[in-house]
Amino acid sequence: MKKNYMFTPGPTMVPHEVLLAEAAPMIHHRTTAFSEMLAETSRGLQKLFGTKEDVYIIMGSGTAAMEAAIVNVCSPGDKIICAPAGKFGERWVELGEGFGCEVVSLELEWGQSLTPGQARKALEEHPDARAIYTTHSETSTGALTDLGAIAAVTRRTDTLLAVDAISSIGVHPCKMDEWGVDVIACGSQKGCMIPPGLGYIAVSPRAWDVVEACSSPRYYLDLRLMRKRWAGGNQTPFTSAVTLVRAQKKALDMMQEEGLENVFARHERLAGAARAAAAALELGLVAENPANGLTAIHAPEGIDTGKLVAHMRDNYGVQMAGGQGHLKGKIIRIGHMGYVSEEELILAIAVLEKGLRDFGYEFDPSAGVDAAMKALG
Ligand SMILES: Cc1ncc(COP(=O)(O)O)c(C=O)c1O
Repeated sequence: MKKNYMFTPGPTMVPHEVLLAEAAPMIHHRTTAFSEMLAETSRGLQKLFGTKEDVYIIMGSGTAAMEAAIVNVCSPGDKIICAPAGKFGERWVELGEGFGCEVVSLELEWGQSLTPGQARKALEEHPDARAIYTTHSETSTGALTDLGAIAAVTRRTDTLLAVDAISSIGVHPCKMDEWGVDVIACGSQKGCMIPPGLGYIAVSPRAWDVVEACSSPRYYLDLRLMRKRWAGGNQTPFTSAVTLVRAQKKALDMMQEEGLENVFARHERLAGAARAAAAALELGLVAENPANGLTAIHAPEGIDTGKLVAHMRDNYGVQMAGGQGHLKGKIIRIGHMGYVSEEELILAIAVLEKGLRDFGYEFDPSAGVDAAMKALG
């Protein structure tokens, strides 16, 4: 018998209740029943985003929501500021360049997070920038950006703040309206606890003015069209992924039942335990300011984490992630976002210890597990 566990930082494990909801008979998307489901799902997402604005559901992965955040905000030739400190921060640069923006790319190392001081300086040098594009939780390094502090800088200027919150929504509290964030993009397969396939986006009132005036060509991801169809009876412009929306509604109901504060506190505890285990195993963190949805750790000298990850998956049924970009083969990323319990995290740490030992790394037996259990209390 073999059981599989996913401790990848997306896609993540999906609750059985959600899988069963997906398996219910199909309904047509142009029905009152579906419109109500869509509206309730959007309302649930509003709570996770911390906004009164509608959260639009895009049939596409998180990157579709990111692309929507570019094509609806930036006209060709607009200047944007990006702060790439990882694979997904770099995606903003690629999207900006792909759609003809003048991209000012701040110099950050992977593992760092954009600081308010860096944002302020960039805005002083480029007051004409249309938007700063940043990443709340950088999944390639496990670093968290203090969004509230960055928004405190941007909201006093005409430059918008657009954020990839794909691996932070449902993990960290997000207060879009209170902080003054203008655009938030998200995806379904991480803290939102459902399979990949949906993108989410919300837009502040002042950003809507920009969206309306934006001259970029757009069609499938045209937020003006989405807003129109939403206002005309909670519909999407095109055919909806009915089963995924149903899954998302169920997952949001489960999160409400647990209580959002408890969901965030659970992630904080899991992250604390994973960090304690890493320290006990004498493996350093990649991130200077670590996020709570994943823990990215440097591998011991000489261990190829691509091979280690495959070994743990194939032999022990536990899947983690290796590194991306120049960190490929060098780091291990343990996802603990979404549907992960404390007991499952202990299992992940135990298997990591087993894998490391198989690859010749020496440490006090059970040091990681003991530290994690102690951190969990
Ligand atoms: C922070 C972040 N941004 C963007 C993406 C890309 O999302 P998707 O693969 O759903 O398009 C991911 C997914 O790995 C992510 O973690």
